Amino acid sequence: MVQPFREAGLPEPMDDSDGEHTRYSGEIGVVRKTYPDLWRVDIEPQDGGLIHKAQVYGDTLPEVHIDVERPSYVEYWCRGGNLQDIWCSAIPWRRLKGPESATEPEKRLYHKHLKIQRVGDLTIRITQDGKKIYLYDAESNDYCLYDQDARAFHVIGPHVFWGTDDKNRVELHTETSDDRVRVVIPKALIGRTAVASTDGISYTADQLLHLVSTLVVKATAGQEIDLIAPLIKLTADQVVVDPVNIKLGSNSASEQIILGNLFMALFNSLINIFNNHVHTGVASGAGTTGIPTVPATFMDGTHLSDVAHVSKSGA
Ligand SMILES: [Fe+2]
Repeated sequence: MVQPFREAGLPEPMDDSDGEHTRYSGEIGVVRKTYPDLWRVDIEPQDGGLIHKAQVYGDTLPEVHIDVERPSYVEYWCRGGNLQDIWCSAIPWRRLKGPESATEPEKRLYHKHLKIQRVGDLTIRITQDGKKIYLYDAESNDYCLYDQDARAFHVIGPHVFWGTDDKNRVELHTETSDDRVRVVIPKALIGRTAVASTDGISYTADQLLHLVSTLVVKATAGQEIDLIAPLIKLTADQVVVDPVNIKLGSNSASEQIILGNLFMALFNSLINIFNNHVHTGVASGAGTTGIPTVPATFMDGTHLSDVAHVSKSGA
């Protein structure tokens, strides 16, 4: 008998009309027990009986079969025709649902995919158009998808980590009472060029936080903006301080500052009065009056602020 697809040189199969050479060959059964440390499973063949500790071929250890809820089929065969050396391989699609379950989520339907493998509550699949791969699609509804047309990764889950778990990383935490993004990194550069202190935001841990713009840097708050440092320096062509209330020195400062121009006019008018005043009802002569019997008090340091100082020209 001519055997199609057999390679040249292989012996012709022996006639086995009595069945004495017949061995398991590509039979199907379900998994009844697993031995992860041996990478073996017990199989209940469709024809009945039980095969103990069949070696599992491949990188997926089948799960224990549960009717309807978790089907776990394997194909098994006798390696080299040896009854004592039974191997098996999972049949992944039997773990999934078919066209009759069209209302099920796509991750549970084998006929919607080019590749699909389900282990536990995780499914790995490539969609039928061959454009999307779900690196995992979990029953928790978390998934990681690469979409080739959009050239986009979707990493969906309430907690996402990029980097390393214990060192530099970016974390996203959602669906918590304290949702947040954490960037754990010694240096961060954000901007059009992302070159330190050139544009955008330059950050170096414990050293520098630099906001750079050629036009506007804004900080807007409804209540308070705090700048806290041993030295705060404003360098500008013009500084406009435009609030309703300015307090220099402390929040309880109460001394009002003199309006310089008005005070100058007032002071000069007093000088004019002094310079031009005359006394009437007195006789001219060589004598002089005494100084005022109650002297005026000099201005001294108690009238000057210890906090606020100004310079004439900025030099
Ligand atoms: Fe006088």
